[in-house]
Amino acid sequence: MDEEDWFEANRLNWDDRAGIHAASRTYALERYLDPNHLSGVVEFDRHRFGDIQGVAAVHLQCHIGTDTISLARLGANVVGYDISERSLAVARELSLSAGTPAEFVEGNVYDAPSRLDRTFGFVYTGVGAVNWLPDIDRWARVVSELLEPGGRFYLREGHPAIFPLEEEDGRLVHRYPFWHEQHDPVSWDEDVSYTDGDGRIEHSRAFEWNHPISSVVNALIGNGLVIDVLDEHDFLEWQLVPMMVEEQGHWYMPPGLRDKMPLMYSIAAHKPD
Ligand SMILES: C[S@@+](CC[C@H](N)C(=O)[O-])C[C@H]1O[C@@H](n2cnc3c(N)ncnc32)[C@H](O)[C@@H]1O
Repeated sequence: MDEEDWFEANRLNWDDRAGIHAASRTYALERYLDPNHLSGVVEFDRHRFGDIQGVAAVHLQCHIGTDTISLARLGANVVGYDISERSLAVARELSLSAGTPAEFVEGNVYDAPSRLDRTFGFVYTGVGAVNWLPDIDRWARVVSELLEPGGRFYLREGHPAIFPLEEEDGRLVHRYPFWHEQHDPVSWDEDVSYTDGDGRIEHSRAFEWNHPISSVVNALIGNGLVIDVLDEHDFLEWQLVPMMVEEQGHWYMPPGLRDKMPLMYSIAAHKPD
């Protein structure tokens, strides 16, 4: 298989997830009918990425648009961008029914500069995004090309240290690689998604890449960004393994493990003038 085959498999996989997620309690789209509602993800991060009122923003890998619409509600003029047309159809419908305008454009992240053909004051992404991309340096180049001079970048992602983990008989085991080559992705064949609901994923084969924080940071620096803040967090936005416990919309490791491992990280950066 080559890169185009991986992207196509992942696109079909995410198309299948879109309907499952739209109907799920996890995403709870009806909450967005309240014009003041923000996604938990954006609510947590808004003070970290700063004021975006009136700023032209792009949300890379926006999926069904819940965070994109939340950015729009904070005053950004936002474009959501994603490879999955079915995800974008849900996002457009949500934007319409929730009365919060946003633009949604289909395409591969790596084609974003040419497909969008403009620059932005804020580039936002994360929460299960970069793990679908083989080449982190090429991704950082895209981020840099999309940013206008002085523009800000914000990412919150699953911590690469958790990517290798699986739960077996109530214990965490290291099953998958931390480091692996671009041409050797980790492949999954799972017909259920990370949300509730009993919908099945028909195109169950998907391909992922783990990106160490050092690779992400070095790629951003190497493509001209200045890192302002790097943080690590003790919670996740999804249930990675069955032993995790939910508290107020976030997933934590059980008490004995909670202070022993990071689960997410976030980066705020900017492109100098
Ligand atoms: C977990 S979601 C993004 C997270 C978002 N925070 C959410 O939960 O709603 C991952 C998204 O990445 C998109 N995606 C995967 N590979 C992509 C690529 N190469 N280019 C653009 N989008 C891609 C998928 O279609 C999916 O909508």
